[in-house]
This record gives sequence, C-alpha cells and structure tokens, in this order.
Amino acid sequence: MEKIILLIFMAVLLFSDESVISKCNECHSYSPTPSYKKIHKHYLLKYSSKIRVKQAMIGFLKAPSLEKSEMSNGMKKRLKPENHTIFDDKTIEKAVIYIIEKEDIQKRFKKIS
Ligand code: HEC
Repeated sequence: MEKIILLIFMAVLLFSDESVISKCNECHSYSPTPSYKKIHKHYLLKYSSKIRVKQAMIGFLKAPSLEKSEMSNGMKKRLKPENHTIFDDKTIEKAVIYIIEKEDIQKRFKKIS
C-alpha cells in the first residue's frame, strides 16, 4: 500500500513539474530562445555550485534586467533579457529546480558510466 501511495505521490510531483516547465517550453523549445542547456552552462561557469546557480536564476527571473543577465553580449542585444516574461514565485522556483536537475552534469556522467 505504501508503495502505491509513494508512486502516486511521485507521479503527481513529476506531473506538476512538467506542467510548470511547459510554460517555459513554449519559448525555450524553439530557436532563437536559448535552450536550458545553453543557459545552464552560462550560469554554471559563473556560479559553480547548484545553490548559487539556483539563486542567480531565480534572482534574474523575479526581476529580469540587462545587468542580471548571464547570457552573451550578442544574445543580450538580440533577445532583450530585460523584457523576459515574469512568472509567480512558485512557478519560477519549480521551473528553475527542474532545469538545474535536468542539466545536472554529474547525473549525466553517472548515466554514461
Ligand atoms: C515568451 C517567451 C519566453 C518564456 C515563456 C520564457 N522564456 Fe526564458 N527566455 C526567453 C528569451 C528570449 C531568453 C533570452 C534572453 C536573454 O536572457 O538574453 C530567455 C532567457 C532565460 C534565462 C536566462 C536569463 C539570462 O539572460 O541570464 C532563464 C534562466 C530563463 N529564460 C528561464 C525561463 C523559465 C524558468 C521560464 C518559465 C517559468 C521561462 N524562461 C519562460 C524567452 C522566454
């Protein structure tokens, strides 16, 4: 019985994350909007740790600005990060966690080996 409850719980968790990220996928699945992989790379190179990447991404998404953007200068010029869509805090947090977990480099290493 516990196993079934746990499974349902996990399914709900997974589903809710998927539905949150689908709001972002509307743009981020298509060019010229940068992919999560590309965005995550820029943030990881600057902030190194998961916690700091999370803080920086959330910081940008809550109040998008040119100064907070971590993308390349060319992209900033073309895609205007200061005009990024604003979402509620819960959506932002869930979506950012989803992106960080999905792009987790260490997890990918484990899959290969
Ligand atoms: C209306 C289209 C659109 C939607 C919806 C959207 N994005 Fe974006 N996003 C963009 C574009 C375009 C850029 C590139 C602008 C830039 O940052 O240079 C971007 C950039 C970003 C960046 C990098 C910001 C930077 O410049 O450092 C993050 C992180 C991000 N999006 C996360 C999200 C998340 C999470 C969601 C969903 C909650 C989301 N986006 C929804 C269009 C969108």
